[in-house]
Amino acid sequence: MGPFALLLLLWLLPSCDSGKILVYPIDGSHWLNMRVLVEALHARGHQITVLRSSTSWYVSEKSPLYTSITIEQQRPQNLESEDFMSLFLQRSIEIRRNRGSLWNLVDFYSNLFSMNEENQEVVAEFVVTIFENKTLIKELTDTRYDLFLTDPAFPGGVLVAHYLKLPTVFNVRWIFNGEAHFAIAPSPLSFVPQLFSQFTDKMNFFQRLSNVFYHSVLVYMLHFVSSPPYQAVCERYFGPGVDVMSLLQEGDIWLLRVDFVFEFPRPTMPNVVYIGGFQGKPSNALPSDLEEFVESSGEHGVIIMTLGTLLGDLGPEMSEIIAAAFASLPQKVIWRHVGQRPKALGNNTRLVQWMPQNDLLGHPKTKVFVTHGGTNGLYEAIYHAVPVLGIPLIFDQFDNMERMKARGVADYVEITSLDTDTMVKTLQNLLDPEKQYKSNMLKLSQLLHDKPIKPLDSAMFWIEFVMRHKGAPHLRTESYKLPWYSYHCLDVIGTILAAVMLTLFIVFMFCRCVFRSLMRRTKTKTE
Ligand SMILES: *[C@@H]1O[C@H](CO)[C@@H](O)[C@H](O)[C@H]1NC(C)=O
Ligand SMILES: *[C@@H]1O[C@H](CO)[C@@H](O)[C@H](O)[C@H]1NC(C)=O
Repeated sequence: MGPFALLLLLWLLPSCDSGKILVYPIDGSHWLNMRVLVEALHARGHQITVLRSSTSWYVSEKSPLYTSITIEQQRPQNLESEDFMSLFLQRSIEIRRNRGSLWNLVDFYSNLFSMNEENQEVVAEFVVTIFENKTLIKELTDTRYDLFLTDPAFPGGVLVAHYLKLPTVFNVRWIFNGEAHFAIAPSPLSFVPQLFSQFTDKMNFFQRLSNVFYHSVLVYMLHFVSSPPYQAVCERYFGPGVDVMSLLQEGDIWLLRVDFVFEFPRPTMPNVVYIGGFQGKPSNALPSDLEEFVESSGEHGVIIMTLGTLLGDLGPEMSEIIAAAFASLPQKVIWRHVGQRPKALGNNTRLVQWMPQNDLLGHPKTKVFVTHGGTNGLYEAIYHAVPVLGIPLIFDQFDNMERMKARGVADYVEITSLDTDTMVKTLQNLLDPEKQYKSNMLKLSQLLHDKPIKPLDSAMFWIEFVMRHKGAPHLRTESYKLPWYSYHCLDVIGTILAAVMLTLFIVFMFCRCVFRSLMRRTKTKTE
């Protein structure tokens, strides 16, 4: 056997350091990108176990990729319920319609807080159910997992990892009080726009003022809405003085679903690994009937539209507006639409229940992608260099679209004031070669692709790195152990200020004494 064949054999054999990985995912679109990691880990010969809730919407019990452990739960997370999400969407649109007043801002955040609070409580219950099941805990401990992989958007997994004392890797963009960087990296509010601000990294004074406000609300949310349910669990199982935020900050590696073609540049940390766009993959051929439809668009090309996994349809009124806009364009349109068939639907538009999104985005005839502006779809659009029309609806979608717009690769419309005319004009702009959207997108796409290592490979490397070394504490800063005043050196500044004041005071007193005695002497002399 030649050396080459030997190498090949070595490569083909399952790697001998394949490990056991316990995965604690978040449902919905979060699971879609966790599954990408699970698939890749499975392909590399690792054994994967997924902790799922009996009420799970997306995480299936049976899979060739993993074995699952189902935790019985009475109450579903509201984010996992189609009915709740459609109500939440309606309410969010209603609130947005009246935006501009202070009262409306209160409405917006109280809607968010109540959704959030309910969710965190359900997740905390889930964790308690795990901790209370001694058979399960024994099973989990006996299996001797090498790694705990979780999405800490809701930090249930963080508590379970701490309980089982396992090295932890996060697949993350959001944590329970906003963007993940804010938990570990310095995030100056002067150029790092906070969630819901819709600002870029260039802010004027008033925008910076608002940015501090948006930040303060999220700090409030952390302490009074998101944390308390977990804090109760921490105190019950880990004793006093353990707080959930510090447990989160102890995570070994943060696989952050961010790339700087999308996110504004900002300070980072050594244990942050950027995997934004990791789900990107080349497109496959379309099913023949769809291919025929796409080809029939001729020189005009096609527009594709989908509003993602959590959101249903926008109601008949909005659907009519969108259908009429599409009908007036020369392009062909493929629209993933779940509601009633709009009356204004043109014969250029095909409604589908499901679409091969990646394959359509990769098709050379696809000209514009109409989306709600979730990050999964946006990274796919950048990967395939397709300009984007956003119809942002909830959560981070407005901020996401603002980032895309700042790069000159997208525009977005306001759902609460959308009419056919605006929709048509915005689409025509995006299609117009003179407006440069396509050429900007091509450049951005090239930047995303031009990397020494593909983001998914990087994710695999770091997951296996943590397994090999049983953690990565050498990459973690000690910052999270500091109280806030030490973190900002306020104690040092205070001491220096006090010292300076004291010195000034002594100098002043001394001068006054000298001055007075001089005065006295001159007085006696003149007498
Ligand atoms: C505890 O976990 C075991 C093992 O996963 C499971 O069979 C059992 O039903 C669980 N018990 C309860 C009360 O949920
Ligand atoms: C589609 O509709 C347009 C305008 O309503 C019409 O001119 C055209 O013939 C129709 N095409 C087909 C294939 O029905």
